[in-house]
Amino acid sequence: MRELVSRTAVTTPGADRPRRLRANPALRALVRETRVDPSQLIAPMFVINGRDQRHEIPSLKGHFRMTPDLALREAHRLADLGVGGVLLFGIPQSKDPEGSGADDPRGPVPETLRLLRSEGLPLALAADVCLCEYTSHGHCGILDREKIDNDSSLPRLAAAAIVYAEAGADLVGPSAMMDGQVAALRSGLDAAGLLDTAIIAYASKQASSLYGPFREAAGSAPSFGDRKSYQMDPANAHEAMREMELDAAEGADILMVKPAITSLDLLARARDRFDLPLAAYQVSGEAAMIEAAAERGWVDRRGAVLESLTAIVRAGAGIVITYFAADAASWLGESR
Ligand code: PBG
Ligand code: ZN
Repeated sequence: MRELVSRTAVTTPGADRPRRLRANPALRALVRETRVDPSQLIAPMFVINGRDQRHEIPSLKGHFRMTPDLALREAHRLADLGVGGVLLFGIPQSKDPEGSGADDPRGPVPETLRLLRSEGLPLALAADVCLCEYTSHGHCGILDREKIDNDSSLPRLAAAAIVYAEAGADLVGPSAMMDGQVAALRSGLDAAGLLDTAIIAYASKQASSLYGPFREAAGSAPSFGDRKSYQMDPANAHEAMREMELDAAEGADILMVKPAITSLDLLARARDRFDLPLAAYQVSGEAAMIEAAAERGWVDRRGAVLESLTAIVRAGAGIVITYFAADAASWLGESR
């Protein structure tokens, strides 16, 4: 008898018609569960030394390697669009086995940070902290023969983070996937009196096939081997949680997963598990896939970009690092 009653209830004519709330744009907006705001977006930027120069990056449409003065102009444009922040990557003039350029206070990243900081832009200023753009071998740490040595890489990473923090970074983002890198940065920053510089930790960074366009942009492809001895196996979700746990315990202020679209399950799990802000990096290969398909007319560029960003936020990211930051911010601004 009870069964019959409840069955009747759900089969009442019209009771299960979710299409009612899809009938027009106003209704759809009213019931929309996920909104992306430009202030959540961080734009990656590639900077070089010099003045008034920029070179388009063939693998990353609309992105340039640029000198600090032009980076400043771009930062103004991003700020005007309401973008939340920038993440700087440096391309040095020369590379060596120790990645000496990474902590050179005259390097492109600190030069750009000082300039952006002095302008008082309403942008969060973040700097990626890794050695691969600066090492002649292209690995993210210091070599001991053919091996990437964890512990001798830590002071190099901390030194770079201190230089960026002193130049004005709000956030430093260790991306080398060396064990203990967050703790090394935190204690280095604290010892240098840089207590207020926050760490956005590349906590679950996978050894992905989707970093190709970035490596072309930064000239940072490893000259031998691959990054699988330090970046994570994309197959491992429990290990990803452990990486995040460790980074949180070491003092991370924000936890990041990367790539984004292939880590939506990790974002959702992490959202339930940690109370720190969560970020996702929609990497260069993710952007390239959308660009390439859009160029052929196979997907609608704007639709695919906004759909992917929405899915990343829906999964649990409060912050998205994306090459589409400027475009997305302008589209989101229009639709208001
Ligand atoms: C450097 C770094 C990489 C990315 C961010 N920081 C490349 C890599 O690990 O090889 C990838 C970003 C992208 O593909 O957009 N450690
Ligand atoms: Zn690296």
